[in-house]
Amino acid sequence: MRLIDVSSWAGDDQHEIFPVGARDKKMIWSPSEVVNDGLKCRWPYLFKESISRYPDQFWTEVIAYIISKHLSVEVPLAYPAIYTDCDGQHFGSLIEWFYDEKSENFIHAEQFFKRINPDFDEKLGTQHNLRDLKSICRFLKQRANLQNDILLWLSDIALFDCLIGNTDRHQENWGVIFKPDNTSFLSPLFDNGTSLGHERFPSRVAGWDENRLKQYIDKGQHHLRYVRDKPELRIKLYDLIKMLAGNEKLKTYMLNKITSFDIVAALDEISELTSIECEVPFSKERFDWVSRIISMRFKLIKEVFK
Ligand SMILES: Nc1ncnc2c1ncn2[C@@H]1O[C@H](COP(=O)(O)OP(=O)(O)O)[C@@H](O)[C@H]1O
Ligand SMILES: [Mg+2]
Repeated sequence: MRLIDVSSWAGDDQHEIFPVGARDKKMIWSPSEVVNDGLKCRWPYLFKESISRYPDQFWTEVIAYIISKHLSVEVPLAYPAIYTDCDGQHFGSLIEWFYDEKSENFIHAEQFFKRINPDFDEKLGTQHNLRDLKSICRFLKQRANLQNDILLWLSDIALFDCLIGNTDRHQENWGVIFKPDNTSFLSPLFDNGTSLGHERFPSRVAGWDENRLKQYIDKGQHHLRYVRDKPELRIKLYDLIKMLAGNEKLKTYMLNKITSFDIVAALDEISELTSIECEVPFSKERFDWVSRIISMRFKLIKEVFK
C-alpha cells in the first residue's frame, strides 16, 4: 500500500459540500487511467479527513479495511491519501464508492426506521434496534427483492464490529442499495473509523496492563439496541455474537470466519503501514496499541465459541 495523491482528481459538481456525517469529506473522481493499486478508473471515491482532535484517525479506516479482507467481510476499499490545495496538504482515507451512483440508489437505514416509527430519534438513534431492523429487512425481502441473507449479514456486522471495537454502526452507517433490475442489497460496512482505540493517545496507554486493556475493551457496546422501547438496554459487542451463535447455522458461519482469520498475516499487513512516508504517519506506537487491541479482541471472540 502507498499514499495515493489525489490532488489532480476531479471534484464532483453535485457533492462538493457533503452534508452527511461528522468529518470533512468530499466525493472525487478517479482519472481515466488509474493503472495500479486496485483503483477503478472514472469511479467516485470519498476522500475523508480525520476529526481535527485526532489527526491520525484516517488510518483507522484503512486498518479496518485490511481487517475486513482477512475476515472476509464486505467493506469498501480504503487507502491512505493526500490532497493538496491552496490551504495546504490534507491527509485522509480514500474510500471506494460502493454503488454505481448513475444507475443505483442508496438509502440510509434511517429512512426505513422513520417509516415504521415516525418518532424515531434521528439525532442519537436511540431507537435503532435489532427487532425493527429485522422487520425492515423482511419488508424489503417481500417488496424490493432484497438479495442478502439477513442473518448472515448481521453475523458479519457482529464479528467485524466486535473485532475492531466499532461502537458507531448507527442508522446512517448502513443502508440499502436499490439496483435498476429491481433487486436490492444491504450495504457493505462503511464508516469504520470510530474504532480501534483511535481516541486514545498511544503514549498514555502504552503502560496499560492486560487487565486495564480488558476493562477498556469490555465497555464496548454496539449502536444497535435490542428493542425500540428500551433504548437504555444496549447490546455489548460480544453479546451480539453470542446471541447470533445461538443459531447453529450462524454459529458455523461465524466460526468458519474466525478460524480462517490469520491474525499474524493481518497484523503484518497493518504494520507495513508504518513504513509509508507521510506527515501524519501511522506511528509504530499507534501500531503497538492497535495490535494489542486486535489481539485481545480476537482472543475474546474465540472464547465466545468455546
Ligand atoms: N464508500 C462510500 N460509497 C458511497 N457512499 C458513501 C461511502 N462512504 C460513505 N458514504 C456516504 O457518505 C456518508 C458519510 O460518510 P461516513 O463515512 O459515514 O462519514 P462520517 O464519519 O462523517 O459519518 C455516509 O452516510 C454515506 O451516505
Ligand atoms: Mg457516518
